[in-house]
Amino acid sequence: MIKALRGTYDILPPESALWQKVEQTAREFFAKYGYSEIRTPAFERTELFVRSIGEATDIVEKEMYTFQDRKGRSLTLRPEGTACVVRACLEHKLLAQQGALQKLYYLGPMFRYERPQAGRQRQFYQIGVELFGTYSPLADVEVIVMMVRLFERLGLEGLSVNINSLGDKESRKIFQENLRNFFEPELNNLCPDCRHRFEKNILRVLDCKNPDCKKIFSSPEMPTMKSSLTEEAKQHYETVLETLEKAGISYKEDEKLVRGLDYYTHTIFEVTHSSLGAQDAVGGGGRYNNLVEDFGGPPTGAVGFAIGVERLILALKDLGKDNGEEPVSVCFVSFDEKALTENIVFAEKLRKAGISAVTAYQKQSVKAQMRQANNLDAKWVVMRGEQERAKNSVKIKNMETGKETIVSEDKIENSIR
Ligand code: HAM
Repeated sequence: MIKALRGTYDILPPESALWQKVEQTAREFFAKYGYSEIRTPAFERTELFVRSIGEATDIVEKEMYTFQDRKGRSLTLRPEGTACVVRACLEHKLLAQQGALQKLYYLGPMFRYERPQAGRQRQFYQIGVELFGTYSPLADVEVIVMMVRLFERLGLEGLSVNINSLGDKESRKIFQENLRNFFEPELNNLCPDCRHRFEKNILRVLDCKNPDCKKIFSSPEMPTMKSSLTEEAKQHYETVLETLEKAGISYKEDEKLVRGLDYYTHTIFEVTHSSLGAQDAVGGGGRYNNLVEDFGGPPTGAVGFAIGVERLILALKDLGKDNGEEPVSVCFVSFDEKALTENIVFAEKLRKAGISAVTAYQKQSVKAQMRQANNLDAKWVVMRGEQERAKNSVKIKNMETGKETIVSEDKIENSIR
């Protein structure tokens, strides 16, 4: 038997209904904030991700599904959506008007070669948003508020919002210099990965999970990003925190938060849920003011986030909020062969009127058909046989009360309503 690959999985009913509910809610929700959907391809030129996510990140160094196509071009299955959206915006000149906002959302599979475990797959789904065209800290706040309120709308309680600032280019330069001075005498005590990061991209050292490295990070001498922020960057961050408070969002400042992608500037955030164990980030994002320009576009302030749908679904299930599936309203039961065809016509009329209905396709015992109605948790059973036909009627059973009534065949819809 051929089975799904490690780190990939099938989404089956009834869980697929919960996925639909999550996706539908997100679409409606984003539309209320003025966002429109963008769909980009699942693979792109490798260079797009190397240049945006950063050469010395785990994603680029270890996790990308990269392959050569038949013409020898290096292509990569997208590990995330932001770079793809930026590429599409530039290609289609969506950011051409200076000062105009562009608000986009996307849903779809992403691919990372990671060690699979609960909440971590090799193909996983993200729901993301990207807001282009403003440097205002209020945009950071709105994006964070949007993410938290969407979780709330879906019934996800018990979230933590963790936030930090990476500052602007200048702040980062100061921080990198401070880190270099701090780590230099410790180089031999750092793991080989960190020694490599020290050379290539020192900020990535802070991503390390090695316990020996973490011990070094906990030193009181360890430089903090906050102390390296320029006046302007500090102001931006403070406005974000103050406005979040005004918007009623509780958050935790996390100075150790760096995120696994290199394109961030200023505000970065992650939302975690306690039920998720080691992979507890249900979503994350931040501001990225240089990315559009780095790809040849106009200077463009931008901020966004992505939610991991598998983790969101796991957390919803943990809270018992996993009933995405609406039971069918009506199950038709045929007492004889002729009724099979008649019921198909009746069912079609109900569906046209917006009432969900299922019928049988071949002769079955009444008992088997009733069992099916029970399995589907149908609210009503509509029965038809010779006796009913003689009176141009059907028998309707309310499955909750057990009460049966005879109804004229052109009144089925009315009596069910
Ligand atoms: P990210 O933090 O790499 O950010 O991914 C966002 C979310 O995707 C994570 O918080 C997690 O819930 C989910 N996720 C990531 N990797 C996996 C995996 N292997 N299995 C299951 N879920 C996973 C980004 O991707 C940025 N593009 C977000 C962003 C948008 N920043 C600005 N705009």
